[in-house]
Amino acid sequence: MTVTADVADARTFEGVDLDVLATKIQTPFYAYSANAIRGRISGLRSAFHGLDLRICYAVKANSNIAILQLMAQQGVGADIVSLGEMQRSLKAGIPAACIVFSGVGKTGEEIGAALDAGVWRFNVESTDELALLQRIASARGVTARAAVRINPDVDAQTHAKISTGKAENKFGVSIDEARGWFAAAASMSHVRLDGLHAHIGSQILSLDPFREALRRVDDFRRQLEEAGHCIASVDIGGGLGVAYRRGVDRPIPIEDYAALVRETFADFGGTLVLEPGRYLVAEAGVLLTRAIRVKHGTDRSFLVVDAAMNDLLRPSLYDAWHEIVPLHDRSGTARYDVVGPVCETGDTFARDRALPTCEAGDLLLIGAAGAYGASMASTYNSRPLIAEVLLDDGRYAIIRRRQTFEEMIAGEQLAQAWHET
Ligand code: LLP
Repeated sequence: MTVTADVADARTFEGVDLDVLATKIQTPFYAYSANAIRGRISGLRSAFHGLDLRICYAVKANSNIAILQLMAQQGVGADIVSLGEMQRSLKAGIPAACIVFSGVGKTGEEIGAALDAGVWRFNVESTDELALLQRIASARGVTARAAVRINPDVDAQTHAKISTGKAENKFGVSIDEARGWFAAAASMSHVRLDGLHAHIGSQILSLDPFREALRRVDDFRRQLEEAGHCIASVDIGGGLGVAYRRGVDRPIPIEDYAALVRETFADFGGTLVLEPGRYLVAEAGVLLTRAIRVKHGTDRSFLVVDAAMNDLLRPSLYDAWHEIVPLHDRSGTARYDVVGPVCETGDTFARDRALPTCEAGDLLLIGAAGAYGASMASTYNSRPLIAEVLLDDGRYAIIRRRQTFEEMIAGEQLAQAWHET
């Protein structure tokens, strides 16, 4: 089931009664449906059936090692942007040979460790990074496989903070610059540059920007092949949007996206790579929270819940809409600002939202919280990281227990040992 369902459906999630679960696990906590994630993977695979396709899940969307383990079990690889994400992926059983390494700020240390681990390919984002990759690979006597991340200068028509494919964004290089890389490729003794990569942004709900970006990438791919370069893979990134707001967000049907990719790359004989993050996990996850109290202000009522912006940052950071579904039957409705306990006005999950009347102690579900929820959480206001639970056919497994106070401050120490520099 997906999480924008109505209250009756929402009470049980993946066969687990959420009310009962919330008596066993302290709120707030995240719950994810294993079947919903598997369903997304198989849907993606069938839409692309017959193509030489690799799915490399964007680990940043939800990096819990049990979620990565699920990806590994389904034969899904990883798109990583840090050593931490590489270590998580390897620990969860994703083979290095199924990992692509993206990111504009890869350090020498990270590049070296990824080469040592044997990652499949580097999505290289600058001339400086390309030179560094050559130097580090050469020092190790290995050949790095690389794709150039193209910045196709296309407006993804999404929130400015998650738009990555405009020339003004820090990501990738222009097609002209990339052309120069291929022209010089023969002189790079330890880098095999034979791939293209583009990721234009996230939560994209229209095919148009994809059509434009993919066309530019494919035109360039043809020109390169005509010039005698071998292009073994084209990585078209992630970005597929999901339904956060019932009746408003209309995600691109996966078949339409697949049809566009098929049509665009009809004469491409290499491997296509997808890097979906949100599409695989967002709607498979919910955040369970309990009302602490209702506070009646002078001109509005505040429903104060025990989850906050440190647990789910998206509404504060992007003004993102998430469905909020109280799991009780009380009659009557009211309008609330749904807020957390953190001392910031931005700690608001919804403004002036019409909901069934709520009271202290009520359990509420915040929908489509499986992506960029737990992975963006912090301990701001000294609130420990919350639990995460995986649900599978009526059973549950705790995949992250709630952090203790001691764990939260581990690594901190009183200033006692002073050193001269
Ligand atoms: N590939 C690359 C290189 C990326 O940078 C990203 C996401 C993805 C793939 C996966 O994109 P997706 O399929 O999830 O759209 N925190 C924001 C989203 C940031 C996305 C960053 N990059 C949010 O909560 O909306």
